[in-house]
Amino acid sequence: MRGARILGTGRALPPRVVKNEELTRRMDTTDEWIIQRTGIRERRYADPGTGTSHLGSEAARKAVARAGIAASDIGLIVFATLSPDYFFPGAGVLVQEQLGIPTVGALDVRDQCTGFLYGLSVAEAYVKGGFHDHVLVIGSEVHSRGLNFTTAGRDVAVIFGDGAGAAVVGPAEPGRGILSSHLHAEGKHAKELCVEAPTFLEDPWISREMLEAGRHFPKMNGKYVFAHAVRRFPEVIREALAKNGLSVEDLSLLIPHQANLRITQAVGAAMQLPEEKVYSNIQRYGNTTAASIPIALDECLEEGRIRDGDLVCLAAFGSGFTWASTLIRW
Ligand code: ACO
Repeated sequence: MRGARILGTGRALPPRVVKNEELTRRMDTTDEWIIQRTGIRERRYADPGTGTSHLGSEAARKAVARAGIAASDIGLIVFATLSPDYFFPGAGVLVQEQLGIPTVGALDVRDQCTGFLYGLSVAEAYVKGGFHDHVLVIGSEVHSRGLNFTTAGRDVAVIFGDGAGAAVVGPAEPGRGILSSHLHAEGKHAKELCVEAPTFLEDPWISREMLEAGRHFPKMNGKYVFAHAVRRFPEVIREALAKNGLSVEDLSLLIPHQANLRITQAVGAAMQLPEEKVYSNIQRYGNTTAASIPIALDECLEEGRIRDGDLVCLAAFGSGFTWASTLIRW
């Protein structure tokens, strides 16, 4: 069976920078609290009229150009987001239209912070199986319109930001590129990090009462999420290494989902990885959910942090709970 590798990446960050100080004017919080608990100093918010599909398309255009292919070469689009432009249809079809890609399939993935890695595993399987030569995988979010910017929502609102990242996956010689992907889920924790309304469990599926109760805002059991994340990240990274007969010492770089700097530091410490082998950019972008890994990967490639032959691990944990890892020989 042939291999699959990432041929090109791209990212799109909205120009508007929102520093912690700006949030202190909207809710009872402080720059110190946010930095100490999350590491975040600033994040980006999309301008009016810019949606998840637009950021996704911008990142995808760059990824396609860096891959050295034309948009018309894409055989399948995989789009991961929790903040789509529309409840339906999905965002993948909008990118297909915005990029002028022919009538190929467009698959939307709903696995939140783990969404990009779930999407990447789909691309890996299609390319390794010989079904497609080029699969476009996008992670994109516009969180800023869905947060509760009052003090009641401060635990969540300070964490999230907008942005998009994309990758084009194509064929590789066996043993190079994506070595393996490892996906997990445990739905019993679904309500610990979720948006519960609008919901087709209730009739009507959207109501004034829901909005007044703030049920359309994300709810997070922060300590519970933290405890599970710091356990699952190391577990799934070790699983990927073991599957390929490799050890932590072989790793050149870990790019974790940018959930929270404290989570990333705890994972690095648990894995006994030196700081320079664990990438963090949450300080500048906050948590961009499905977009955080492809944004970070694109930055690492641009900064020359990844060289030919490097062993790179991507790892994620998020709502669901879902968690995953992807091991790549660059
Ligand atoms: N500013 C100021 N004070 C705040 C804020 C804020 N933005 N948010 C909460 N507080 C207050 C709380 O109200 C509480 O006050 P109280 O003691 O008077 O009740 C106090 O700070 C401590 O609250 P805790 O929730 O106990 O704070 P904690 O130390 O657990 O930190 C946090 C909260 C940062 C969310 C933490 O639980 C955490 O890191 N959780 C991990 C979850 C996470 O990072 N998720 C990211 C998204 S999910 C993902 O990507 C996987």
